[in-house]
Amino acid sequence: MRSTAIPQTDLVPSAICLGSSNFGNGIAPADAFQLLDAYVACGGNFIDTAAVYANWLPGEKNSSEKTIGRWLAANGQRDAIVLASKGAHPELATMQIPRMSPAEIVDDLETSLRNLQTDRIDLYWLHRDDPARPVAEIIDTLHGQVVAGKIRYFACSNWRAERIAAAQAYAAARGITGFVANQMRWSLAQIDPAATGDPTTVAMDEETYTYHRRSGLAAIPYSSQANGYFQKMADGRAVAPNQQKLYGAQENGRRLARVKELAQATGYSVSQIVLAYLTSQPFVTIPIVGCRSVAQVEDSMQAGDVELTGEQVDWLVRGDEWKR
Ligand SMILES: NC(=O)c1ccc[n+]([C@@H]2O[C@H](COP(=O)([O-])OP(=O)(O)OC[C@H]3O[C@@H](n4cnc5c(N)ncnc54)[C@H](OP(=O)(O)O)[C@@H]3O)[C@@H](O)[C@H]2O)c1
Repeated sequence: MRSTAIPQTDLVPSAICLGSSNFGNGIAPADAFQLLDAYVACGGNFIDTAAVYANWLPGEKNSSEKTIGRWLAANGQRDAIVLASKGAHPELATMQIPRMSPAEIVDDLETSLRNLQTDRIDLYWLHRDDPARPVAEIIDTLHGQVVAGKIRYFACSNWRAERIAAAQAYAAARGITGFVANQMRWSLAQIDPAATGDPTTVAMDEETYTYHRRSGLAAIPYSSQANGYFQKMADGRAVAPNQQKLYGAQENGRRLARVKELAQATGYSVSQIVLAYLTSQPFVTIPIVGCRSVAQVEDSMQAGDVELTGEQVDWLVRGDEWKR
């Protein structure tokens, strides 16, 4: 498995990051341990969690972080893992009310450190933005946690390009490191934004893509496999109604045909081509995968070594000629 250095940091995670959104509740702790073990056995070292994960399911609160904390404590691998977690997520019952005050950010971080049984988080994400809050206050709060040794680097998730640019400009003017990555919804699939069911999430758009190209900021996208949509379509399997709404654009049918053609030409699986579309971007892009079985982990991890040319990447989206 290739490693990919995150610019502006000394973090060198594997090319594929393991997500954990239902660990502990939707995915039983013993099964989550198996997924984590399989991921590490495949050469993975980059784990993504959040304080809020699995709180939407019945069971233990903060169960994703707690499950990962127990796994880290049981196997003594903390120093070998690039550990990423997120805070400042709204309460689930009041998603329209941001939780981005300095006190909320710091409280969430302290909770995450306890849940994860660690003294520092390598990459700490703001799970959402509050555009009404000045970027200076947010960056100063996070920088304070870096100085205190609680986090090594910080980053943003579900932020719009102009807010990221403003935050980075403030950090640069202060002479400190700002966001080292951006986590957005992004995959090869076109989506219907209205069907995400959560207006506080942000998907990759043209402005954000241009920002990444220009600045070199790392992208660490979620729902990177379009929730398995292309693989399911290729296998003739049923797609859940909510996923059909999200990914059902006619354009995705054309992209599926190109994915299948490229898979056949290269010998890779459909899901590996879908992930390689991201890992082969012109700026550092490390997809986060959500896997329910060890077989899915093993399949997705093989994409970490697949490299597509720029022409192939463009062709997957636009259908331009790549076989010159
Ligand atoms: N920052 C945020 O706001 C945010 C939001 C969402 C997620 N995340 C993070 O991103 C992670 C991944 O998100 P996600 O679960 O939406 O991503 P995803 O990887 O696009 O979707 C996961 C689903 O894809 C299918 N799948 C996985 N591996 C496969 C393979 N090798 N072949 C075929 N199908 C495969 C499975 O579907 P089936 O179960 O149907 O088989 C699985 O449940 C989360 O765990 C979390 O850490 C962050």
